Amino acid sequence: MSEPVVLGIESTCDETAAAIVRGRTLLSNVVASSMNEHARYGGVIPEIASRAHAEAFVPVVSKALADADMELADVDAIAVSSGPGLAGCLAVGVSGAKALAWAANKPLYGINHVIGHIAVTQLQFGPFPPDTLALIVSGGHTSLLHVEDVARHVDVVGTTLDDAAGECFDKVARLLGFPYPGGPHIDRHAQQGDPHAIRVPQGLTQGKSAARHPYDFSFSGVKTAVARWIEEQQAAGREIPVNDVCASLADSVATVLARKAMRGCEQYDSSTLIVGGGFSANSQLRAKLLEFGAKHGVEVRIPEIKLCTDNGAMVAMLGVNLVEAGISPSSPGFPIDSAMP
Ligand code: KG4
Ligand code: ZN
Repeated sequence: MSEPVVLGIESTCDETAAAIVRGRTLLSNVVASSMNEHARYGGVIPEIASRAHAEAFVPVVSKALADADMELADVDAIAVSSGPGLAGCLAVGVSGAKALAWAANKPLYGINHVIGHIAVTQLQFGPFPPDTLALIVSGGHTSLLHVEDVARHVDVVGTTLDDAAGECFDKVARLLGFPYPGGPHIDRHAQQGDPHAIRVPQGLTQGKSAARHPYDFSFSGVKTAVARWIEEQQAAGREIPVNDVCASLADSVATVLARKAMRGCEQYDSSTLIVGGGFSANSQLRAKLLEFGAKHGVEVRIPEIKLCTDNGAMVAMLGVNLVEAGISPSSPGFPIDSAMP
């Protein structure tokens, strides 16, 4: 098989997505989101998200096939995110993918969503260098990974000890009155603010805790510090300088992520940093990573925004990697794995 054609299906959280990839070429990419249905609750409601997946599954997969001018019989394999994610959401995507694979007699791969966020960068930048570091930042995950071989071996170098970067932004956004997900609102306001207006701590970057956790992250203290500062201002009857709060928060989080990622590249002798996950859409982080990368001689591979947030292309791309590596398909009854990495 020269260039495998894989249908990728994603349903870990609030996006029902399907895409078709041939080799390193994206043939179609369809995303349906239930995000707006969760906005008034301030976060994803699993039951609402699961129901939305059940409704969107068939239309989304059908459109991905139609956009690629294909039928199910034309794909070489199907890949589906089997975790981490919300159990009810995963169950819809995995059950649907199993039914399709059984009906069309296609090999099926249950893939790790987080590794998918890394794999997707190949669509834009081509194959990985043999040994590379990856920074995955999203609403659910913040990890630094060592990618020896994306199909076979990925190690966790560091991870958040509490909140994920996107989660921290979403929580502060809520305090500021922005609807869910608040990350993009903070991004936009931060562009108008002064990043040094407010002192925001940089978790695990100083003293003994930094020495003990050189590649780990902590963002819950950042969130608490900002929340306390806002409370103090309100108690004193002062107006909240929203743009400055956003800019100071964004600068602190982006600096910690970029600094630790560069230190990891140095330690692992990697001249490339792969970046993925919904939070990598953040403009302050993108700018900081490119700035630090240029300084440290590290090529930073951040994909275009539509490939950063959850999508089917990431699943299909990792599926192609597994087929190319000759990995056996998952057993027909493979389980969902809702646990976080
Ligand atoms: O990867 P993703 O789509 O879903 C998860 O697997 O979590 O990431 C969603 C997260 C949310 O926390 C959202 O607020 C954040 O990514 N996000 C952003 C931006 N775009 C999405 N955060 C900051 N700035 C952005 N531009
Ligand atoms: Zn994700």
